[in-house]
Amino acid sequence: MNNVERFQERRFGMFVHWGAYAVAARNEWMRNREKLTDAEYQRYVDHFDPDLYDPAAWVALAAEAGMRYAVITAKHHDGYCLWPSELTDYRASRDLIGPFLHALRDRGMGAGLYYSLIDWHHPQFPIDGLHPLRDEPPPGSRDIAAYRSYLHAQVRDLLTRYGPIDQLFLDFSYVGHVHEGQVVWGGKGAADWDSPALLETIRSLQPELLVNDRMDLPGDFVTPEQYQPSAPMTVDGKPVPWEACQTMNGSWGYDRENRDFKSVGLLVRMLIDTVAKDGNLLLNVGPNARGEIDPASADILRGIGRWMRLHERSIYGCGPSSFTAPPDCRFTQRGDRLYLHLFAWPFDAVHLPGLAGRLRYAQFLHDGSEVAHEIADPDRPAYATSSAGQERGTVTLLLPTRPPEVEVPVIEIFLAPAQPSSAG
Ligand code: GLC
Repeated sequence: MNNVERFQERRFGMFVHWGAYAVAARNEWMRNREKLTDAEYQRYVDHFDPDLYDPAAWVALAAEAGMRYAVITAKHHDGYCLWPSELTDYRASRDLIGPFLHALRDRGMGAGLYYSLIDWHHPQFPIDGLHPLRDEPPPGSRDIAAYRSYLHAQVRDLLTRYGPIDQLFLDFSYVGHVHEGQVVWGGKGAADWDSPALLETIRSLQPELLVNDRMDLPGDFVTPEQYQPSAPMTVDGKPVPWEACQTMNGSWGYDRENRDFKSVGLLVRMLIDTVAKDGNLLLNVGPNARGEIDPASADILRGIGRWMRLHERSIYGCGPSSFTAPPDCRFTQRGDRLYLHLFAWPFDAVHLPGLAGRLRYAQFLHDGSEVAHEIADPDRPAYATSSAGQERGTVTLLLPTRPPEVEVPVIEIFLAPAQPSSAG
């Protein structure tokens, strides 16, 4: 299995946004939104004391949710480092990254790092329209070359310090980028980061690592953020590995007052939708300043885990199907197993065009109980209780009135091999 296949096989991961902004507890962009100076932000840095941090507990929760990898912020846009970088003293008092990566590896899970290309703390990072000091830039000039060598050296440090890393999530480039309705001035991209050289360094240090697409160069996978693509993703017409990153409540960093949590059912549907389109889902948690995943997020993860325990067969090892799913449904497929996910509960029956002669057996996945099926004569007229109107080749699954008590019911279909067409 190559590195792309390994990445796609892992399918469902945990994104961790953690840093000094957890102390402010109002989103990781708060320093930008509130236009705070370094001095004003310092109190969050000073009071970041994650005394309850237990990386094995985070990883155990991810595993309980059925996740198979995680990606953690080594540095976010605020520039604060969670590992003992020797290139700055703007960093946590102990290594918060290494123990998490080790805990992942101990469970055989994939380990990834997020590193912000943007840095609102570094004194040589040129002020631009996204910088917290954009309205009142301090006097003096700034030298992007000095920042660039810091950036390259930090990435080198991360990729030599912790052994093999599965993915590097660099974030982000913004030349000509529109933010809150305005083109951002001073936007930065490949020339500022010297992305070709950075990529070369990454490749030479860790040839197996997959890097994302946000350094203003094509990467190994694309990163839809907070939306679900409507089909498998492509670049220049060719299929490309992709990973949707999604929040639980709209915020990446811990956001105390934000209760806008997606339901377990919605998140499970998003995971299924992702796999049905051949993508990965990286679902975020924003641990709090003491180092804990808040109870609401933890409950959601456990809820997803309850579904995954019974249904992970329709997720892992599966990808898109060449069959077209009926309305309100998603198909995933692995070899001769086709999985029908019912996002809404149909009345009485669900019709599957093209499956006559292919469906050998059908069962609910959650309890292994048979789901009956029939193939109605397409020529029969509708009369009284006899339905009609299904195209030739349609199989009808006969469903109970009440849905099973799981977030998304799944029907596992055992397929017979396709018969060579008689027309041929
Ligand atoms: C964005 C945001 C950010 C978050 C990230 C996750 O670009 O700036 O706060 O880390 O996306 O994809």
